[in-house]
Formats: sequence, structure tokens, C-alpha cells
Amino acid sequence: FLYLILCILLGYLLGSIPFALVIGKVFYKTDIRQYGSGNLGGTNAGRVLGRNAGISVIACDILKVVLAMGLASLIDGSCSIWCGVACCIGHCYPIFAHFKGGKAVSTMFGFLVSLWFFTFHDISYALVPLGMFLIILFIFKYVSLASICASIASCMYISARVLSLALNPIFIVLASWIMMFLIIYRHRSNIQKIMNATENKISWL
Ligand code: G3P
Repeated sequence: FLYLILCILLGYLLGSIPFALVIGKVFYKTDIRQYGSGNLGGTNAGRVLGRNAGISVIACDILKVVLAMGLASLIDGSCSIWCGVACCIGHCYPIFAHFKGGKAVSTMFGFLVSLWFFTFHDISYALVPLGMFLIILFIFKYVSLASICASIASCMYISARVLSLALNPIFIVLASWIMMFLIIYRHRSNIQKIMNATENKISWL
């Protein structure tokens, strides 16, 4: 139990590193919280600072989860899963940036990549949501809508696959539902803007 608490703490602290803020301030002398959507994520970094910044932030946000879950998986699978959830929560509510962070999209992808690497050794856990993301992004050009749909696809896919494997994996299914609700909750302003037809379309990819 102590190890589980330590892994959750490790995940939260690593997730709290606000790469969008760090990269913006160090390399562009810009605080992206003052521009665009104000969100500390790869989409807003790309919107405000350009493609290289956006891609760098996305890569760092994915890697911080993979690192956290990789370390936790040295203890066991459930520590790794809850470490990943804590990392996504840290990313949204970072202790290092006044609890105002991102929307957990890149970090959820990092969680899925880690499920592939460390838990199931099956790339489909990352590919199915990524496919859904790209299709919706290609059709509608809204990153937020693509992210919400990808989080739902990921949750449904994990629930269906894991339950059919009969692995007694209820905590993985629970983690994926928590992640989906976190992402939808963090996108509530985007949902409002999509309904008002005022949401930004992506232009920098
Ligand atoms: O990266 C999160 C994305 O889904 C939406 O970001 O800046 O358009 O609110 P943003």
C-alpha cells in the first residue's frame, strides 16, 4: 500500500511539470496562459508559439506519463495504472502552476502508450483512440472534439477488450472511465464553443 501511495505521488508530481509553460517561457519568452485559449497544452502551444513548440510540448507531455508509469511498473501493474491516472490529474491541476494546467489529451495518450509498453504489449490500445482522433480531426478540424471522441473510444475499447480477456482488470477499466470523464470535464468550455460555432479550428498541423 505504501508503494501505491508513492507511485501516485510520483505520478502527480511528474504530471504537474507544466511543459507548455516551461517551453514557452524558456525558448519563446512567452507565457502561453496569456494567449489563445490560455490552456497549458500542446494545442495552445502550437496555436501561440508555432508547430515546433506544439509538437515539443505534446512529446514532453506524453513522455512524462511513460516515464512515470514505466518506473511504477517496476513495482506492479496496478501501481503503474494509478500512477498514470495521477499523472493526468497532475497535468490538469499542477502543483507547480497554481493548479491550472492542461486538458489531459497528450497525457492520456501517454497512458495508452504505457498500457501498450508495460501492461498488455498490444499496440491497439494506443492505435484505436489515435485513429479516432485523426479521423475526427481530419473531418471537423477541432482538436477538442477529436480529443473528446478519442477519449470515449479509448474508454469503450479498453472496457470491451479488457473485460473480454477476463483478467480481473476492473481497475484498468475504472482508470479509463476516470480519464474519459476528466477529459470531457476539462473540455467543457470547448464543448460550449463548439455548440456556439466559435471553437478554433486547427491551423498549425
Ligand atoms: O489539447 C487540448 C485540446 O483538446 C484543446 O485545447 O487550447 O483548443 O482549448 P484548446
